[in-house]
Amino acid sequence: MTVAVQSERECLFEPLTIRGVTLPNRIVMSPMTRGFSPDGIPTDQVADYYERRAAGQAGLIITEGVAVDHPAALGDAGLGEDNIPLLAGDGPMAGWRKVVDKVHAQGGKSCRSSGTRACCASPEPAPIPMSAV
Ligand SMILES: Cc1cc2nc3c(=O)[nH]c(=O)nc-3n(C[C@H](O)[C@H](O)[C@H](O)COP(=O)(O)O)c2cc1C
Repeated sequence: MTVAVQSERECLFEPLTIRGVTLPNRIVMSPMTRGFSPDGIPTDQVADYYERRAAGQAGLIITEGVAVDHPAALGDAGLGEDNIPLLAGDGPMAGWRKVVDKVHAQGGKSCRSSGTRACCASPEPAPIPMSAV
């Protein structure tokens, strides 16, 4: 590796502050649907999955896409995927609480990804997408 490339890569490991939130480095994990959340509730398997990424020192974890509790965003009316986590209701929020606590215990930071899950194709009128953070 040349000195120039090496120094370009070093900035990846420098902290970054965005709106008062400081990330320990600039490595961001992109959202990936896991389908481990029956009834929209992230399981312990989900919490352990994100905990491992935080332990691996991802600077920011963008979680898998979350859905709102609306037929336009879920199941056959949505992308046809099962076990997608919700970001509303006591069960899902308790599941996400476990995820957040485990990520924070490892010194990590995470945010939920909404994107297409909140308003994907459907004959139904789509709800307004939620903020990703
Ligand atoms: C298995 C898998 C699941 C994914 N799930 C999501 C998702 O839930 N939400 C999302 O916005 N992107 C999702 N993506 C897209 C990735 O976040 C990423 O944008 C894509 O893999 C392209 O990354 P790249 O440009 O680094 O190759 C998924 C990708 C894969 C491979």
